[in-house]
Amino acid sequence: MAKVTVVGSGFVGSTTAQRIVEDDLADVCLIDIVEGKPQGLALDLMQSGPVRGYSSRIVGTNDPKDTYGSDLVIMTAGMPRKPGMDRSDLLDVNGKIINTVADYVREGSPNAVVVVVTNPLDTMTYLMRAGTGFPDSRVIGMAGVLDAARFRAFIAMEVDVSLDCVDAMVLGGHGDSMVPLPRYCTVSGVSIDQLMSQEQIDKLVDRTRHGGAEIVNFLKTGSAYYAPSASVVEMAHSILRDQRRLLPCAAYLTGQYGLDDIFMGVPCILGSGGVEKVVQLDLSEDESKQLHASADAIRGDLGTLREKGLLK
Ligand code: NAI
Ligand code: 2OP
Repeated sequence: MAKVTVVGSGFVGSTTAQRIVEDDLADVCLIDIVEGKPQGLALDLMQSGPVRGYSSRIVGTNDPKDTYGSDLVIMTAGMPRKPGMDRSDLLDVNGKIINTVADYVREGSPNAVVVVVTNPLDTMTYLMRAGTGFPDSRVIGMAGVLDAARFRAFIAMEVDVSLDCVDAMVLGGHGDSMVPLPRYCTVSGVSIDQLMSQEQIDKLVDRTRHGGAEIVNFLKTGSAYYAPSASVVEMAHSILRDQRRLLPCAAYLTGQYGLDDIFMGVPCILGSGGVEKVVQLDLSEDESKQLHASADAIRGDLGTLREKGLLK
């Protein structure tokens, strides 16, 4: 069994751990700073095993040493947004948490692939790469799978078809500047412009861009976690089983799409080495302009992190 550390045992972390053991994908180490919380959740999940029929093991801990030797680290620790907050409002508090965790991941799990979920996603992933010093391919951000899943669900609801026959692609940063790509969305291979009007498509693009805030506004005291944990576990499957799925992920760019030294959402082939390949899509002038505007928004957050001394 592979070993996965899930950092943070809040809503996203605990549901991620649950999905991993229920899929018998790996043994899990669940770590949090709150004493007793990861231990209690881990014991509860161990006791679910005999009933649900899985044999993956899970331990809960507050000690970073227990995470050592992980094959995959999923970083979910940090504050979620409250209504009215932008993801960028979390830069300071979550940046400090990323730096702490990066230190013990570098020290104890030097060969791990790291998938970051903590917001603001693209900036926190950049910080994790800087903190661990890991190769570009082994630090990845989760957002595109979630944003595309939201777009897929909205399309299925609008066309009134099964959720599982819709495919979609969303690029760019995980924020209001994300770039849903209707040209790359299909229902069982049929382009969505044959199934709905441009006005309907525009409405769904807008709803996707604000999909996270829509849920925050309903919940009031936290953000989404079922679809986020499902999304990060899809990435975990592709990495741990070397499935080479093509998924939109925040990857470190070195010139692809005309962008350099930045993490943002692009189509990636994920395998045992992490990002095995960044796939270059043929973008229209307008799509490319949107992607570059999204990069500018992320660069703004990176500048703030540098000003605060959190990123050297
Ligand atoms: P939560 O508040 O339920 O859980 C956060 C957990 O992190 C808490 O249990 C807290 O004690 C723990 N924590 C804080 N500092 C820690 C440290 N140094 N080490 C270990 N654990 C620590 O929040 P939730 O809902 O689980 O969200 C977690 C993060 O994921 C937030 O930043 C949120 O914005 C982000 N998120 C990102 C998504 C994406 O698409 N990338 C989707 C959903 C959430
Ligand atoms: C989401 O999109 C808050 O980033 C989180 O649900």
